[in-house]
Amino acid sequence: MAKDTLKRSKRLIAPALVFHTDIVVKKAEGLYVESTDGKRYMDFSSGLATANLGHCPPEVCEAAKAQMDRLVHSGCVFHYDSEVELAERLARITPGNIDMFFFSNSGAEAVEGAIKLARFSTGRQGIIAFTGGFHGRTLGALTLTASAARYRMRYHPLLPSVFHSPYPYCYRCPMGQNVKTCSTECFNYLESILRYQITPEEVACMIIEPVLGEGGYVAPPFGFMKKLRALCSKEGILLIADEVQTGFGRTGRWFASEHFDLRPDIVTMAKGIASGFPLSAIGSSSKIMSKWPPGAHGTTFGGNPVSSAAACATIDKIERDNLLENANKMGGRAIARLREMQKRSPKIGDVRGLGLMIGVEFVKKDGGPDKEGLIKVIKKCLSKGLVIIECGVDKNVARLMPPLTIKESEMDKALDIFEEAVI
Ligand SMILES: Cc1ncc(COP(=O)(O)O)c(C=O)c1O
Repeated sequence: MAKDTLKRSKRLIAPALVFHTDIVVKKAEGLYVESTDGKRYMDFSSGLATANLGHCPPEVCEAAKAQMDRLVHSGCVFHYDSEVELAERLARITPGNIDMFFFSNSGAEAVEGAIKLARFSTGRQGIIAFTGGFHGRTLGALTLTASAARYRMRYHPLLPSVFHSPYPYCYRCPMGQNVKTCSTECFNYLESILRYQITPEEVACMIIEPVLGEGGYVAPPFGFMKKLRALCSKEGILLIADEVQTGFGRTGRWFASEHFDLRPDIVTMAKGIASGFPLSAIGSSSKIMSKWPPGAHGTTFGGNPVSSAAACATIDKIERDNLLENANKMGGRAIARLREMQKRSPKIGDVRGLGLMIGVEFVKKDGGPDKEGLIKVIKKCLSKGLVIIECGVDKNVARLMPPLTIKESEMDKALDIFEEAVI
């Protein structure tokens, strides 16, 4: 084992890249990460909602190794099984009429491709995204990202003709309403963009995370998503569901769109797709994809044979082991326990989530966001062997996103540690 990895990492890896911990990994397996200094951690970050089957899942690693003996790279010169087999599986599990795919490497790349597809196929330029949304860091995707102004700082000017409407974050309503007074003012705002800023016939697409990830683990009201779908259909605007974080069982369904009966025109996927092997995908209907002619988009590494084999094995394991059911069961167990904690601790303002995408919002006495309070909780958890990371514009939301394979006893142990840190 090489020595001083942390020190060398700090010297050699660009400081722009923020690491959530100083843990240097010796070995990772399932929920557990073992550090070079001999400590063992329960990883409730799943490597940023990606290791949905836990670290190094044997079936996935075996499939990748077997593929490595046959073909590692194609570069769009040759056809190969694993990519096609993955597309067949995705056609079966993605929501709505999605039946054709373009594979790339990262979430941001999928988002870039999705907005290119929307612009090309509609012949329109405008894009509408939502404040709180995170869609990646490349310049096009960054233009859509509005989960925090700091991500966009010093990169202006960004892509023109992109407009943002408030995401329905009901706990801190951007329109100053509450459950009793709400008449989906945020949707009215969205409509006003189409009246005052850009005509609907100039808008190519709207892009939304069906549950906000980086922006604070927020699920929108069902009614908002219904209205959004209806508006897009009425105006011929393509609706893109960014399922990069919410996909592959994270919310207890294959895709979070299903919670809202949402049939998106385009879906972006990455993170959990291949259990940590780099891969992403844009999915759409063959009707829309057929409007994107050969050469309109391309890639060298996208749909890598090894990553594709890993993705097939990932999907098969989720199905074979009923992991969506487990995510719902374990998520329900966690939320019930966290709501109990909320009753006993004024530090917890809100507990929310779907499946194993759970947010716990920390607040000060006056209800304002409590970033410092959460930092203390995260540090205490880490010292007891539990890795938790934060999200939200004010970094005051703990996100609990363990692997879908988590067992009851592991969930209970992690929540014991979390409770001890909070109360
Ligand atoms: C919803 C969403 N879209 C896009 C991205 C960007 O993905 P990547 O970091 O793989 O480029 C992320 C990453 O967190 C995400 O959560």
